[in-house]
Amino acid sequence: MTLSDVSTDSAARPTGLESEVARRRTFAIISHPDAGKTTLTEKLLLFGGAIQLAGQVKARGERRRTRSDWMSIERDRGISVVTSVMTFEYDGRVFNLLDTPGHEDFSEDTYRTLTAVDSAVMVIDAAKGIEDRTRKLFEVCRLRDIPIVTFINKMDRETRDPFEVLDEIEKTLALDTAPITWPIGGGRDFLGTYDLRAGNVRLMNASGDSHEDLVPEEGIDALLAGRGMSAIRDELDLAREACPEFDLEAFRAGTMTPVFWGSALRNFGIKDLLEGLGTFAPPPRDQAADRRLVHAAEEKMTAFVFKIQANMDPNHRDRIAFVRLCSGRLERGMKVRHVRTAKQMSLHTPQFFFAQERHIADEAFAGDVVGIPNHGTLRIGDTLTEGEDITFVGVPSFAPEILRRVRLEDAMKAKKLKQALQELAEEGVVQVFRPVDGSPALVGFVGALQLDVLQNRLANEYGLTVGFEGSQYSLARWVAAETARDLEEFLEANRTATAEDVDGDPVLLSTSNYALNYVKEKWKKLRFTDIKEVQ
Ligand code: G4P
Repeated sequence: MTLSDVSTDSAARPTGLESEVARRRTFAIISHPDAGKTTLTEKLLLFGGAIQLAGQVKARGERRRTRSDWMSIERDRGISVVTSVMTFEYDGRVFNLLDTPGHEDFSEDTYRTLTAVDSAVMVIDAAKGIEDRTRKLFEVCRLRDIPIVTFINKMDRETRDPFEVLDEIEKTLALDTAPITWPIGGGRDFLGTYDLRAGNVRLMNASGDSHEDLVPEEGIDALLAGRGMSAIRDELDLAREACPEFDLEAFRAGTMTPVFWGSALRNFGIKDLLEGLGTFAPPPRDQAADRRLVHAAEEKMTAFVFKIQANMDPNHRDRIAFVRLCSGRLERGMKVRHVRTAKQMSLHTPQFFFAQERHIADEAFAGDVVGIPNHGTLRIGDTLTEGEDITFVGVPSFAPEILRRVRLEDAMKAKKLKQALQELAEEGVVQVFRPVDGSPALVGFVGALQLDVLQNRLANEYGLTVGFEGSQYSLARWVAAETARDLEEFLEANRTATAEDVDGDPVLLSTSNYALNYVKEKWKKLRFTDIKEVQ
């Protein structure tokens, strides 16, 4: 029997689906730049034994060199390929780490990636506490009830008081903390961590890689006395008594976070974190579709597109759609239904990504992420199934914070520009709003860096030289109404200030918050939203 025979005969599928799904953990790392996400990622991969060290280190070096030159990263796409999805195994579990783009700008890609994970690791710099971007990303996780595991990093440097750090998490994020380990000292005196449940100590040795170096409860006093740190004993006792017990249900509901302390640079605390992630973090969750809830261990394959990447390989002008499998098992060569167009497509070359390499994926399970090469058929938010007519909901678009008009150097190329903008909008690089009164289209950006990206890609890929002009409008909001009639009435009355987005959905353009509020007051039956979810 050939592989394709098997793929059409669902009864012949192996029964291991449930256990394959149950052992998967699909997560992202959220953090403020410089907190140590890259370092931690490397160390997680090292522990997982999956790292191709040379490739990874090179990639890191490349990223460092070009950190301030994001465009060149975009251009050769090296870093995106490297860091899209990383899969590794540890202790019988399969971990899929989805990377969020490394640049510092607010990015839709980052937020969409969070729709494709089941949990997140929040990395916090022990000296800095909760920073701006961490808070923003956390809010997105909270919207989706994504459980968070916290790793407090850089304990080998001067840090703040651990109680103070936890207090800040609780106050600023309204998230209960349940430390699983407790740091012993900090900075140059960072000895290791105390396991609050087992009551023993894991010591960091000079080389930093000392996970097996366990000191049992009875030896702790002597250890601390020997280092002149007896005073710490009270802190350990206090931590054990005062900190709440870890509650799995509260964690899974997104209201409590288990906390681990360590030093990614010194390779310390990583194993605790991995074990915590394996034990506490949920396997692939049930996923809401328009007609029903889809369970991960269902026999039939379903998936949705959360990210599109163009020109990953300069030799092929292809686009890769990153899909998250929500249920079942994907097999190379299988035929699937592309629900939006109701057409069938064959998955000839689904791919896994690792380091600089792509591999053909012969099979994948719910929770996994695969790349599907295509020429623009697949869009963000699209659903793939084995035939069922359902669409997954909840992949968001965010209202732009910047609106511009595109100024074309060569007016003869207007048609080409329209086509290019359509393609790039479908890919999620830019949002395009076409005013219904026929005036020129507006482009919308969520972060300022996106302007450079658009300009650059229009030049390189479409041969179009463009500049940007300000627009009288500064805000765009999607408009929704209970009845088609309410909507029509609104659109009729506001023709000059409404536009259609790439899907043809109505958008209100507004010159200021004041003007927006005025419209909201006047049209109370309608909703004006700054997040649009595919539904
Ligand atoms: P990011 O991806 O979150 O932006 O952070 P990244 O891992 O790149 O780390 C930012 C800086 O913090 C790096 O230093 C890195 O070496 C350092 N770092 C990460 N984890 C730890 C830790 O546990 N302890 C200490 N002491 N430092 C840590 P850099 O100076 O920017 O780069 P490099 O020259 O050291 O590579």
